[in-house]
Amino acid sequence: MNKLRMAFIGVGDMGSHHCIGFDLLPECKVNYICDMNQANVDRTLAELKNSKPVIVTDYAELLHKEDIDAVVISVPNYLHREVAVAFLEAGKHVFLEKPVAHTLEDCNAIIAAAEASNRILQIGLVYRYSNVYRRMAEELERGRLGDVKLMWCKEFRDPFPPAEWFYDKNKSGGALVEKDCHHFDIFNWMIGSKPRRVFASGGQHVMKEGQPNLITNSYSHYPPKPIENVSIVDHAWVTIEYENGSKANLGLCMYLKPRNLMGDGLEIGLIGENGGQMVAKNDKTIDIVGGQNFTRDHLDIDVTSDSIMGGHTGGQTQRIEFVKSVRAGTLPFASAYVGRDALLIALAAEKSILEERYVYVNELMK
Ligand SMILES: NC(=O)c1ccc[n+]([C@@H]2O[C@H](COP(=O)([O-])OP(=O)(O)OC[C@H]3O[C@@H](n4cnc5c(N)ncnc54)[C@H](O)[C@@H]3O)[C@@H](O)[C@H]2O)c1
Repeated sequence: MNKLRMAFIGVGDMGSHHCIGFDLLPECKVNYICDMNQANVDRTLAELKNSKPVIVTDYAELLHKEDIDAVVISVPNYLHREVAVAFLEAGKHVFLEKPVAHTLEDCNAIIAAAEASNRILQIGLVYRYSNVYRRMAEELERGRLGDVKLMWCKEFRDPFPPAEWFYDKNKSGGALVEKDCHHFDIFNWMIGSKPRRVFASGGQHVMKEGQPNLITNSYSHYPPKPIENVSIVDHAWVTIEYENGSKANLGLCMYLKPRNLMGDGLEIGLIGENGGQMVAKNDKTIDIVGGQNFTRDHLDIDVTSDSIMGGHTGGQTQRIEFVKSVRAGTLPFASAYVGRDALLIALAAEKSILEERYVYVNELMK
């Protein structure tokens, strides 16, 4: 079978991982990289085992190349619409990093371009491909807890990488859009209902607008630097009510130093109608306790077979499944539609913080 010929637009922290991961797949060939940051390009090239891509700095040069079947777009959120729509209109399949976009308007424009082009559009909602959260969904499907009634997520961590665009709400969409679209998507997936209304409280405790905030981050390759223009929240509590009556809560703290050392890491939990609980910790383990038969199960999940280089669980599976979707012409599990549902919660939460009230998801669509 012919190889899938690929181009990578943006090879910063995330795009370099994608480029390296797709390069490892025998059915793919990395033909082009587009990024104006030479240091990021060099870091990526140094890790490629199989391909020798051509480097460009303007993605417009690639739009009509015949030796590109699919592009992976990992540019800052405010550029998602411009770049994704251009490639979809040019007839290329697109893997687009999350969030679909930083605004609903941009998200809808991307979805419309994908529908008009009839090309595959997969979103980088990597948790949908993770062995941990797939196992959680399987346990629910088996009826282990009955319907999910309550869910929570504790995301207590260090700041975003020290790159300005994360901290500018007009560019990232805000902390809840940039970070927690992942977790809102997990809520939607496990609960299986549509969000109805959202209440959130948040603000700036530590990283404040107008002061030289020295930003350090434990996983990015960018060195620490002061960033003054901070228009995003650094903490929030978000409550979501679903149409079926289920409720979910997310706590976000973005200013732990040097990072979350508690060992539990990210915690995602749920309680079923039979009184059982299931909790995933650190993207690695699942505990299931109580419910009808009062048993306790502890599961250590294999999170190496679904990733590469110690990267995010699900990271490599999402790439393998993107190739499958392109070949078979099937809707990806992380479609732009589920991406939009997660974005709606994030945008409602950001609005709720500003307006200090419940925001009904329907309001955002008017
Ligand atoms: N799925 C995940 O878990 C995950 C994790 C981190 C980031 N992301 C997403 O990936 C995207 C990128 O984030 P990042 O952390 O890699 O950011 P980053 O700032 O490290 O990288 C962005 C890269 O895009 C390049 N770029 C900017 N404008 C460009 C253009 N017009 N053409 C080509 N390249 C351009 C920059 O030079 C930079 O190298 C964002 O949408 C972010 O939300 C996803």
